[in-house]
Amino acid sequence: MSIVIAVDGTAASGKGTLAKRLAQHFGFAHLDSGALYRLTAVAVLEAKGDPANEADAVRGAQTIDFNRAGDPAIRSDTVGKAASHVAAIPAVRNALKDFQQNFLAHPPGGGPGAVMDGRDIGTVICPTATAKLYVDARPEVRARRRWTELKNMGFRRAEQDVLAELNARDAADKTRLVAPLKQAPDADLLDTSDLGIDAAFAAALALVSPKVKDALKDRQRG
Ligand code: CDP
Repeated sequence: MSIVIAVDGTAASGKGTLAKRLAQHFGFAHLDSGALYRLTAVAVLEAKGDPANEADAVRGAQTIDFNRAGDPAIRSDTVGKAASHVAAIPAVRNALKDFQQNFLAHPPGGGPGAVMDGRDIGTVICPTATAKLYVDARPEVRARRRWTELKNMGFRRAEQDVLAELNARDAADKTRLVAPLKQAPDADLLDTSDLGIDAAFAAALALVSPKVKDALKDRQRG
């Protein structure tokens, strides 16, 4: 069994940055599962399909181009909204589940663990994760962060619109029937509203480190 850190949370809560830094710190592999849903959405939109249509969305999930995971175009809010639509379709989630579970079982790079961020990692993809974080922040704070992020990527948006879109996407993610966004009972809540990146990372590390260290010791004992 590999060591798994599951980082779930709301849009623009800082979970992606935290997950990346935790992976770096422990020398674990990292997967942003949101990119899988965003890439599915891109495939559907480019094929002129409907992200809310099951057949179109499943075809999209089957034709993901992983080489585009780092493409800023997949970060747009149009793609985010379409991602939330495809993500509500059970057949899409099923199509992406094996890939995620396989990544956790055999972390690329051969290290002992993996960090995965998303919405359902600690609840559905890996309920037995070694450590679980649920990351959140006040909506206005998250909207400001996402607005800045979008601006830096060349997307000019009104902050009020970004806030409205985040709220709508969170509501959809929390109320969908399959794998809704929620805090797992054994996840630690981390509110990053008043924390900068370094302080948020220090807080995350304090929560997960003891669990990861125990798991590493257990592995050594065999
Ligand atoms: O970066 P941000 O938090 O805005 O979003 P993301 O993590 O890239 O995810 C985009 C959308 O994909 C979310 O709004 C969810 O609807 C969906 N998603 C999901 O359903 N399950 C995951 N494990 C990850 C993302």
